[in-house]
Formats: sequence, C-alpha cells, structure tokens
Amino acid sequence: MKIIFAAPKLPGRGAVAVGVMAGTTLSPSAANLDKATGGALGRAIKGSRFTGKKGQLLEVLGPPGVGVSRILLAGLGKPGELEDVDLENLGGSIMAQLQASGAREVAIMVDAIGQFRRKAPQRAARYGFGALLRSYRFDKYRTKEKPENKPSLAKVTVMVQNPAAARRAFDDLEKIAEGVFFTRDLVSEPANVIYPKSLAREARKLGKLGVKVQVLGTAEMRRLGMGALLGVAQGSDNDPQLVIMRWDGAPKGRGAKGRTRRGPIAFVGKGVTFDTGGISIKPAAHMEDMKWDMGGAGVVIGLMRALAGRKARVNAVGVCGLVENMPSAKAQRPGDIVTSASGQTIEVINTDAEGRLVLADALWYVQEKFKPRAIIDLATLTGAIIVALGHDHAGLFSNDDRLAERLTAAGKAVGEPIWRMPLGESYDKNIDSDAADMKNVGARGGGAITAAQFLQRFVDKGMPWAHLDIAGVTWESKAKPTAPKGGTGFGVRLLDRLVADHYEG
Ligand code: BES
Ligand code: MN
Ligand code: ZN
Repeated sequence: MKIIFAAPKLPGRGAVAVGVMAGTTLSPSAANLDKATGGALGRAIKGSRFTGKKGQLLEVLGPPGVGVSRILLAGLGKPGELEDVDLENLGGSIMAQLQASGAREVAIMVDAIGQFRRKAPQRAARYGFGALLRSYRFDKYRTKEKPENKPSLAKVTVMVQNPAAARRAFDDLEKIAEGVFFTRDLVSEPANVIYPKSLAREARKLGKLGVKVQVLGTAEMRRLGMGALLGVAQGSDNDPQLVIMRWDGAPKGRGAKGRTRRGPIAFVGKGVTFDTGGISIKPAAHMEDMKWDMGGAGVVIGLMRALAGRKARVNAVGVCGLVENMPSAKAQRPGDIVTSASGQTIEVINTDAEGRLVLADALWYVQEKFKPRAIIDLATLTGAIIVALGHDHAGLFSNDDRLAERLTAAGKAVGEPIWRMPLGESYDKNIDSDAADMKNVGARGGGAITAAQFLQRFVDKGMPWAHLDIAGVTWESKAKPTAPKGGTGFGVRLLDRLVADHYEG
C-alpha cells in the first residue's frame, strides 16, 4: 500500500475522508465539503445515527458538486482526548471501509486546528501508520481470488500542511510496520514452508540491515548441553536451530567515563514451528493453529527488523529456539528426564508442554553469553492464558515491578494491552518432581502461572525478567482496526515502544 503525504487540496476523484467532532461539529475540511456539495454532508448526518463519536464512520456516496466518488465522515469524538492509538485505529478503519469498496485511492484530510493533543503532521503520520497496518494481506497462496474480491484501494494520500514534517514522523513508523509485517508473514506461513532451518534463513536476511545473525545447529547445541531443547526436537526430521541476532545501535564510547557499560536488552522467543504435542499428541481439531506456535520467535525477529530499520540507538539481542515438536519412534517419551544447559534436570511429564523446555535453554544461553540488563521472553506458551484472559490481553509475568510497569505502559500506548499475572512460591512448588529437579507441568489449575514459574527457574537471581504469554493474541479470528484477521504481530510495536521509551540513549 502506497502511503503519501501531500499539501491539502480537494482531489478530483477517488474517496476523501474528513473528520467530524463529537456533537457533529464539522472540521474545516468537512465544512468546506458540505458547502461544495450543497449541504449533502449535513443531510447525510441528519438521516443517520452518526454523532461524530470517536471511531464512527459514515460514507456518503456520489456527493453532488464535487469530483470525488465518495466522502467518508470519520468521528473524532473530543479532539483533546484523542491518543495516537485512536488516530491509528481511525486510519485503520478508513482502510478497512475502503479497501475493497471499488475506490482506488483515498485522501485523508488532516486539519491544522489547535484542539488536538498533537500537531497536524504528527496526527497525519498516525493516520498513515494505522492505514498501512490494516492494509496487510497474506494472499500469496490464493491463486484464484476473483478480481472483484481483491482490494481496490492502492494509494492513501494524507493531506496536511507541512507534509514534509509528516513524512519525517512517518519514517520510523513505516520501519516498525515492516517489522510487524515480517512477523505476520512468518506466523502465517504453514509449517511445510517455515520449519527451523527455513525460519533461521528468514532471520539471516536481517544481515542486510546490519543485524549480526548467528545460527547454531544440533551439534553445537549438544556441545552446550542443551538437553531440554534437543529433547523436544529429537522426534522431528527437521533439525533444530538456535538463532542469535544482535543489533548494536547504541552510540559508541559511552561508559568510558568510569561507568561500566551495561549489557544489551535481550528478547527471547519460543519458535516451535509446529506443535503436534509430540507423544502427548493433541486432538485433531484446530491442530493447524499450531503452525503459529513460533509466534514468540516471529515477534523477536520482526522486532529486530524494526529496531535495525529505524536505526534504534540501543544494543539489543534476540535469541530464538527453533524446533518442531513431532511424535515419532525417536521422539521423547513422557517420563523421560533431560538435563538442561543450566545443569538442572527436568522430568518430561507431558511432551506437549514443550515451549518451556525450549525456552529454558534459550534463556540460559542469553544470560551466559550476553549478561543482559533485562530479558523479555515471548511465547505462545499455554492454552491456560486464553482461559484466563481471552484474546484481548497478553499475559505478563515478571520478577521486576519496574519492568512490568514499563511494559504495561508501552502496551497501553500502542494498543497491545497486557495484564500482569502473579508469580509465587506456592505456585512454584507445583513443578517439584520426585525424580528430577522439576517436572514440566504442574497441577490442573493456574497452568499459565506454573509455566511461568518453570521459566523463572532458568532466570539468574537479580536478573530483571518478564515473560509474555501471547497464545491468545498472536492469531485473531476477527479483524481489529489495525490488524486484519490472522497473524497480528502483537508484541512488535509494544517492545519497540519499550525500547524507544526506556533503553535508547
Ligand atoms: N503451544 C501450546 C499452547 C497453545 C495452545 C498456544 C493454544 C496457542 C493456542 C503449548 O505448547 C501447549 O501445548 N501447552 C499445553 C500445556 C499443558 C500440556 C500443560 C496447554 O496449554 O494445554
Ligand atoms: Mn505444546
Ligand atoms: Zn507449543
């Protein structure tokens, strides 16, 4: 989708979108159009339930007296209350309304009036960002889609005074969108296309942007003693991979004045390219969803792309454990005891609780090699988090209140909300084993929490750590304003924001 910024001018064709405030107060652009159309907008509003409430849309087709084919009235609510994410949502809703409408282009008019919290160029950039995010489609395998069902919209022009400033504000957002799209592509690809080696190959492409990418195979992981990750992988003909991505964007030379340089911020992703459950095999219904069980790794890879794309002034490392969880004659069995790289032993009660086994060794690796200042892991880890929070919040677990608060605030700011869940000794006891240091499942209740407790056993004392269980938010069966149904890329914008707000220097 082409997103362009230009000086305001009423277009002679296509669609035009204009703002209307609460109580149906027309923005200057809307008022001009109302006049040019002999009051068609006022009449349309009168004949409808459109009030100008935030997010409302009213489409006026074939307006008289102007060249455009349709006018889209967009409810702004009370301008002083509009957040960036509201503007993005509005841009996304305009995209959704027009994408397959027959309109080929739309001009979004952004008025330079003072009641908003942000200046017009900043607002323009947010409209463009939201429209771009919603325009995403994963349609590469649809060879027979009828032309009349394909998107018609090809171009969005956001019209604003000082379009150059809007374009500048959009530059970073466009890079973030590229990261989100990369993640969406990776989770949407089926497991015969994306398996550990091909996913590692995708990650390697970040080398072009200046990310240093290293990939470990089975032999190297065996040398490191990664028995937990390798145990999951052993049932598959697809060899596991550990992908390590480094973006060193922090200004050099800092810390020279006696201050010891702090380690990178670390992101760790669960990359189970397909989760059959292994010998503890899953039921057939919806098993196809398990192609996106590499969603955590997908976010880490997309995030690294966003950070490198916008040249974030941060040192960040991403580590993804990539495996396929299959049943076979070589697969690990319930009751097997594996030794993780940390030295801790694990009794594998259920081979379907595999994500935590993969993360255990990935968490050890990132701490051993990078001494990070903080770790955030992402994983489609449990069905239990969906029972607890549904599809609207990701689950947050953390040993560090400040990190948890920062993540929560970042999620709120970008419209990727997360909800903090408890950790504690009484939950931790649940995964004590009689045969080994721990077992990989707890009691029936609190399944997302015991999974997090398991991960915490692999986090060094004093290391700020947060775990995001994204099982409920990685894939959506209903569209959201800035995400069509399917892979969401949830987490890329949140973590990019966290980095921008707290870790760039
Ligand atoms: N990948 C699944 C979790 C999952 C379920 C993600 C549904 C997305 C949608 C994970 O590996 C798993 O199978 N977890 C089990 C754990 C159980 C065996 C303790 C679960 O949640 O049922
Ligand atoms: Mn599983
Ligand atoms: Zn899984």
